[in-house]
Amino acid sequence: MRFLNGSIGSIFKQMCLAGCVGLIFSSVPASAQMATGKAKFVGNVIAGYVPSEYGTYWNQVTPENGTKWGSVEGTRGSMNWGAADVAYNYAVSKGYKFKMHTLVWGSQEPGWVKNLSSSDQRVEVEQWIKAACARYPKSWAIDVVNEPLHQVPSFKNALGGNGTTGWDWIITSFHLAKQYCPNAKLLMNEYGTENDPSARSKFKAIAKLLKDRNLIDGIGLQSHYFNLDYMNASQMKATLDDYASLGVDIYISELDIVNGGSDAGQLAKYKELFPVMWQHSSVKGITLWGYRSGETWKDGSGLYSNGKERPALTWLKGYVATTNAKTK
Ligand code: G3I
Repeated sequence: MRFLNGSIGSIFKQMCLAGCVGLIFSSVPASAQMATGKAKFVGNVIAGYVPSEYGTYWNQVTPENGTKWGSVEGTRGSMNWGAADVAYNYAVSKGYKFKMHTLVWGSQEPGWVKNLSSSDQRVEVEQWIKAACARYPKSWAIDVVNEPLHQVPSFKNALGGNGTTGWDWIITSFHLAKQYCPNAKLLMNEYGTENDPSARSKFKAIAKLLKDRNLIDGIGLQSHYFNLDYMNASQMKATLDDYASLGVDIYISELDIVNGGSDAGQLAKYKELFPVMWQHSSVKGITLWGYRSGETWKDGSGLYSNGKERPALTWLKGYVATTNAKTK
């Protein structure tokens, strides 16, 4: 997120630019979000501010970085909820679903955690979960554990380590989330399993352990460009069918597509894959990982550039608005 890496001044500059450009070139119709009235949501991230056109498109909110432990508690004991509050307050005020992302993740954990004793780590991680749940009680869902196959937290052993199941630290994380966030859907989120049967079977095995203990409501498939750009519709459908056998909700949680970088390439891949997700009865909602060109974590994945929709966004909003999502 380039704009977040800059100073506060540059953030304001971005906001001003976005507003002015939006006013001049507004190709955005004054209408509801694309998935209003549909059985599934189409959401997006919010980083440090809410772009003026955000609510024209999206009806579910995930903070891009704001609800990561490392973002909130970079200094031990000093909580910075600023970016998280912006996203949460906006979502709640609009009645959009808000997802916390994420409680336990080996990336973007606070730097100071790894040097603590195991018992101190246990205290700190529980305090963090308790505080986040208390602050955002209207969260619709939470990525309790993010990327367990790729980014194991330094405090894994403080949560029970591998234990007898091989994944006790994840089970403990979900117990804590259930204790402190009893009203939220509890999810486990991962990338790279979309077209990798071996990773998928590992991820399914963890989800099953959680399901057997009545701890999980759904899984998030990140669905980033580095997987989806190289997949076709039948592979995507096979993946979703495979996960559907778990019997928990499936969310597409961080969708982005580049496919060579051209408008035509991006559009073609959206047209090929998005309907598979929208029409899959186990998929309950779809979240994109950014949409403003120049502000997405991956260059080329943006859908809205200089106040104008790229063709994939124009297609997407038309498709969603005119196509009922399959739920059974
Ligand atoms: O906030 C600091 C700033 O103070 C500092 O000056 C600057 C220096 O580089 O860094 C800023 O933090 C950056 C942060 O984004 C906020 O902008 C980090 O360097 C940067 O690494 C971080 O990147 C985020 C990344 O997660 C971290 O892993 C991306 O914005 C975010 O889109 C990305 O999102 C992840 C999901 O959470 C999980 N799945 C994969 C996805 C894409 O990588």
